[in-house]
Amino acid sequence: MYSHKAIKIARPFLDSEEKKVLKAIKFFPQKYKTLICVGCGPAAYFNLALNKKLKYVGIDPWIDLFKHRISALHINKKLGAVFFKRKIEKLNVVLHKFRGPKIFIFTFNIANYIPDLAVKLSKIVDKNDLIIISTWSKTKSAINLRKKYFTYLNRLINVNQPFDCSLKLNLNKMTKELKFQFEKKIIKGKYNTCLFMKVLKNE
Ligand SMILES: C[S@@+](CC[C@H](N)C(=O)[O-])C[C@H]1O[C@@H](n2cnc3c(N)ncnc32)[C@H](O)[C@@H]1O
Repeated sequence: MYSHKAIKIARPFLDSEEKKVLKAIKFFPQKYKTLICVGCGPAAYFNLALNKKLKYVGIDPWIDLFKHRISALHINKKLGAVFFKRKIEKLNVVLHKFRGPKIFIFTFNIANYIPDLAVKLSKIVDKNDLIIISTWSKTKSAINLRKKYFTYLNRLINVNQPFDCSLKLNLNKMTKELKFQFEKKIIKGKYNTCLFMKVLKNE
């Protein structure tokens, strides 16, 4: 999903996602300490963490696929970077140990594949954390780009069972199931839709 060609095809989506991530941090300005990227692949948003002097935490069960690209990164010894070769579903307690406020970035539509996302989120976030969830928009342009992206992937991987690229994630429905208090903002773009949430209280 993160091959160079796949990223090239999905670039319009990723570019608009990155712009919205910066908007979210401006919209909820705080002294953030940690950036946690879920579905990070080759350490997505590592450079943002470096620029903003945040500790980087990358979560991806397929992280080994990207280790050569990650080894090329200039990891700042002082801040450090941590990678978890796990599904986010398997990581609870350990995430609370990172200094907050934290920025969680559910990048590149990963939230679409996480079962019971609302329950999961309620277990891992702390007060003042910022959660950014990025998914595909439902515009014609987005549908065409996603089709092009998955057609390439399915041809590349040539699996019997093609990738299920159906969009199951419903942001409004998901936010109604959350067990913590939050302030939210949704920005819908041509290719990418992002939900920003600042955690106000999580008991
Ligand atoms: C970010 S998603 C990409 C989804 C695809 N671009 C789409 O539009 O539907 C793919 C990455 O997420 C990772 N991933 C898959 N399930 C995950 C999970 N439960 N927790 C964390 N990362 C996960 C995969 O290993 C892969 O590197």
